[in-house]
Amino acid sequence: MFLCSVIRQSTIDQIFSAASIEEVVGDYVQLKKSGSGLAGLCPFHNEKTPSFRVSPTLGIYKCFGCGKGGNVVDFVMEMDKLSYPEALRQLASKYHIEIEEDNTNREELSDQVKLRDAMYLAMDYATRLFNDNLMNSEEGRNIGYSYFMQRGITHQTMEEFSLGYAMSGWDHFLNTATKSGYDSDILTKTGLIKQRGDDVSAGFYDAYRERVMFPIRNLSGKVVGLGGRQLKKEEKSPKYVNSPENEIYHKSSVLYGLYESRKEIRSLDRALLVEGYLDVLMLFQSGLKNVVATSGTALTADQVKLIKRFTDNVTLLYDGDSAGIKAALRGVDLLLEGGLNVKVVVFPEGEDPDSWCRKVGGERMESYIKESEQDFVLFKTELLLSEKGRDPVGLSETAREVVSSIVRISDPIKRNAYLRQCATLLNFDEDLMMAEAKRQRNIQFQEAGKRTKAVENPQITFLRPELEVDPEKEEEFKNKEKALFQTMILYGEQPYSEEVDVAGYVISELDRDQYQFENPELGEVYVEAKEYYDFHSKLDEVFFTRHRLLGKLTADLLSVKYHLSPHWLDPNEIFVKTDKENYREELIANLNYLKLYKVEKFRHRLLDELKVAETDEDIIIIQQKIHQINEIRKQITQLLGIEGALPK
Ligand code: CTP
Ligand code: MN
Repeated sequence: MFLCSVIRQSTIDQIFSAASIEEVVGDYVQLKKSGSGLAGLCPFHNEKTPSFRVSPTLGIYKCFGCGKGGNVVDFVMEMDKLSYPEALRQLASKYHIEIEEDNTNREELSDQVKLRDAMYLAMDYATRLFNDNLMNSEEGRNIGYSYFMQRGITHQTMEEFSLGYAMSGWDHFLNTATKSGYDSDILTKTGLIKQRGDDVSAGFYDAYRERVMFPIRNLSGKVVGLGGRQLKKEEKSPKYVNSPENEIYHKSSVLYGLYESRKEIRSLDRALLVEGYLDVLMLFQSGLKNVVATSGTALTADQVKLIKRFTDNVTLLYDGDSAGIKAALRGVDLLLEGGLNVKVVVFPEGEDPDSWCRKVGGERMESYIKESEQDFVLFKTELLLSEKGRDPVGLSETAREVVSSIVRISDPIKRNAYLRQCATLLNFDEDLMMAEAKRQRNIQFQEAGKRTKAVENPQITFLRPELEVDPEKEEEFKNKEKALFQTMILYGEQPYSEEVDVAGYVISELDRDQYQFENPELGEVYVEAKEYYDFHSKLDEVFFTRHRLLGKLTADLLSVKYHLSPHWLDPNEIFVKTDKENYREELIANLNYLKLYKVEKFRHRLLDELKVAETDEDIIIIQQKIHQINEIRKQITQLLGIEGALPK
């Protein structure tokens, strides 16, 4: 092992956001507008007509003459013959970005992973220590445990959610953790301790003091964040101290309680969405186990996607006060956009889900929800009417605002049903309602720049030229693997089915088959893509354009589109692809093609084994395997529509 210093991911992110590809390339190449992208003479080979393209939207360049391509860092590396870190440093100095570094004795590539592992370990340690304080220390029991008891939280719930207590004083955690060998740098990154002043030599102190602790788990059950609630009302200190955003904690893509409640959400096919930690705990322990919380912030699109992985149905449970209702309304639109069905329950003034549930008990809470839950249309219509009144102005304003929610629903049948319901509620003409919806949808589309265009040619045919699957043709096969990544780049965030987007589907398929990439670079990228997906619940262009290995590949992969469409750099063209229906077909074909290849490879091996098999028993076993593999082969060729095209 050797000691090396590594540029922090946050700095790398900063560099990528600051460095614009057209500016950086523009220092070397004269670029002219061409379509929605830019074009110029390639700096990497001699040419008279420009075949070098830059896409500012995607942050990549690609030469169709010599094939070179990549992201902004790749360009600097290629142009100035620099290593990756050197290129980053050069860009940082161009954009006046201060480079932050970590010293580590791990190898560069896995550095990020090691850092995150260390942070997970520290969070796990803290969770256990705080829980031990709560259960076993005198102070913890007297203050923390009795606080939870007094709030009606049972011992079992404290254990189930690994609740904890952070001791009073300034350094209980710091000292215990340091003695156990935890590094102060990692502890600082996770937000467990803080540095006194600007200088490390001044020492550290505990970030959580005399607070009850709520660990927040990600979907794999790892604690990524902590919330600590104060016990006495103090003006000076905040009610909650929460983990800062860091390498393992992204507040906007985590939901409190989801790890514990996900099974119940799936089996009941509904999630109850509340605001606070204590709401989750009280409902959960009262038997309403399908509950998750946004932890006090406005719901985000990432959180919506998380929920969507488990159910299509959400009931918003919010405080009866006006802030609660406002929050509910904001949540409604995002949930609708995410394709979820939304109901709303409002509690009596002054009550939140926690207090109400405690008052009436689990069973009555459940029936209360059943009886008072309203469809979002009804909820919003009545709410707005009571605010704006039933005079013509109030009615029309209400109609517009309700329609503005309804138009976010992408399913046209559902959308129309809601429009009709709303028309009835307001006693409005249905046609007028539809016209208003159309108008708003048009505006929405224009804003999003996602105008749909029809595409005639299903591109599934591009798989066809090499029908004979020859296990020796490794190179061609690697191209198919690339094509799969291309699909993930172009359509990764598109829905594959009601439950899962394309990236999630590909990952689950490859995982199920324990697929090993033939192309080792892609295999490596895949492992990281999976991790990225687990973490962010999506595979977006941030991953693809910034991945060190993939930056180059991305431009390559996207350039396949060049052969399909001369305007591949035009973002509208990309939407043509993404909006079209048959990306699913393309994807299924692609996956099956890869599987077929593996099947062929395996089959050839079995045939070879058969030739040298010696005992009858061996022969029978191998023949059985060949029979099985032939069945799979038949299924796949049927799916691909190439039955009979393969050798027997
Ligand atoms: N919250 C926060 N920081 C604050 C206040 C609130 O992070 N200063 C988040 C917490 O996740 C909290 C949620 O917002 O759980 C809801 O806030 P609130 O209703 O004020 O807190 P409760 O947890 O419900 O606590 P209590 O019932 O004791 O008031
Ligand atoms: Mn509360």
